[in-house]
Amino acid sequence: MKQLLLLLLLSYLGEANDVVEFDGNLVNLIKDNDFVLASFYAPWCGHCKALKPTWEKLGPQMALLGITIGQIDCTVHTDIASRYAVRGFPSIKMFRRGRAIDYEGMRDQESIVAWATKASGPAVRNSARQVYDLIAVGGEPMFVYNGPDTKGDLYTEFALLAEENLPNIIFARNKSTTTESEIVSVIKDGGIYHFNLEEAGSMADFVAAERFSSFPSLTGKIARESVENKRYFALYVAEDENDERKNVIKTIAQDRSKPVPGVSFSHATGSHFLRLVNHMTSRKDVGSGELLVLPPGSIDGRYFRMNIDVETSKDQVIDFLLNIQNGKEELLGESPFMRVVNDMLGAFIELFQKQPIMAGMIIGLPTVLISFVIWGVCSVPEVDDGEPMYEENDSEEESDGNEEAEEGPEEEKIPEINKAGPADPVRKRPKRKTAH
Ligand SMILES: *[C@@H]1O[C@H](CO)[C@@H](O)[C@H](O)[C@H]1NC(C)=O
Repeated sequence: MKQLLLLLLLSYLGEANDVVEFDGNLVNLIKDNDFVLASFYAPWCGHCKALKPTWEKLGPQMALLGITIGQIDCTVHTDIASRYAVRGFPSIKMFRRGRAIDYEGMRDQESIVAWATKASGPAVRNSARQVYDLIAVGGEPMFVYNGPDTKGDLYTEFALLAEENLPNIIFARNKSTTTESEIVSVIKDGGIYHFNLEEAGSMADFVAAERFSSFPSLTGKIARESVENKRYFALYVAEDENDERKNVIKTIAQDRSKPVPGVSFSHATGSHFLRLVNHMTSRKDVGSGELLVLPPGSIDGRYFRMNIDVETSKDQVIDFLLNIQNGKEELLGESPFMRVVNDMLGAFIELFQKQPIMAGMIIGLPTVLISFVIWGVCSVPEVDDGEPMYEENDSEEESDGNEEAEEGPEEEKIPEINKAGPADPVRKRPKRKTAH
């Protein structure tokens, strides 16, 4: 009851007060406080304005977690912004004992609180759960320490890695352990695997190698990390969440003997993923049962493809993946240049559908200018001729209409056309004269 009252009081206070404005003193604040949560904003930025009410509501909850919360105007404190490597607005950062942790999730209250709770919590959690239970739950890989106490060398290293990787990787110590020796393991992909210094090289290497599930559900981040780390990215796509064919791919992905090194795997099932996949491959028609492989480097719309059906064997898929790496498969998809052209065209069509007036103005303004100049050029000498000219003027309007259609594709250069506006009519003038 007391807590409830406190919460009510705090939320009342939180609503009554504006968000704390940090200034140059933020540097000292970060030194003196274990946890500081800061939003780096610019007054002109729309997303920052949208975040503000959420930020105000966070106050009381952060106070309960022992987190100092505030915001800082980066247009005033540019030195602070560059000191903490702020690249966009708003940037949300938690300073955990001085170390900055960037927030990358959705900017709603619930997501931020969940993240802040983790980012300010212990790096190594205590767990009393059974291994089989954790395996059954699945989800993100979890590193587990079993040992008699927290004084061993292995634990010191484990705790250090946990701190460095917070809040992105889960580390836990088995509270109910009975073992006398130190064992570090990872629970992932439906199994438990133990750290072995000779095999892994170091615990840091072990963590780096095992930190992702072998067959995670697709996110843009997973795909980018794979190709940017010079790995092929093999993505299985199916519209049906319970697609059976994906098990062939899953078996290969989770094979600890790594039959196809240099390839990361992922799957995307359910229709909401198709948009992302369409975007990554610049295709509108990615269908069920396709294995798409993006080459290393950057995601540029090019890919390899294999159709998977119920009869496709593990060996066939492995052959396909090895052939890709040996240059024996055909790279499909559009070149990056064509993709840019198509993207811009697509964006313009979308703009036309959503905001026809705006789009019309982008096409229309130069056209009106051109017409105006043409009208000026053509009509001046012809005024004396009187009425018949109106007819010709009408037909000229028609031809302007055509010109508009012809110029359509040129509109990709939206900024240039606006600038080039006055120049265009000059270029076109002689043409018109010869026509008359
Ligand atoms: C913790 O230790 C107990 C007792 O040895 C064991 O049954 C349990 O599976 C362990 N849990 C983890 C996560 O290692």
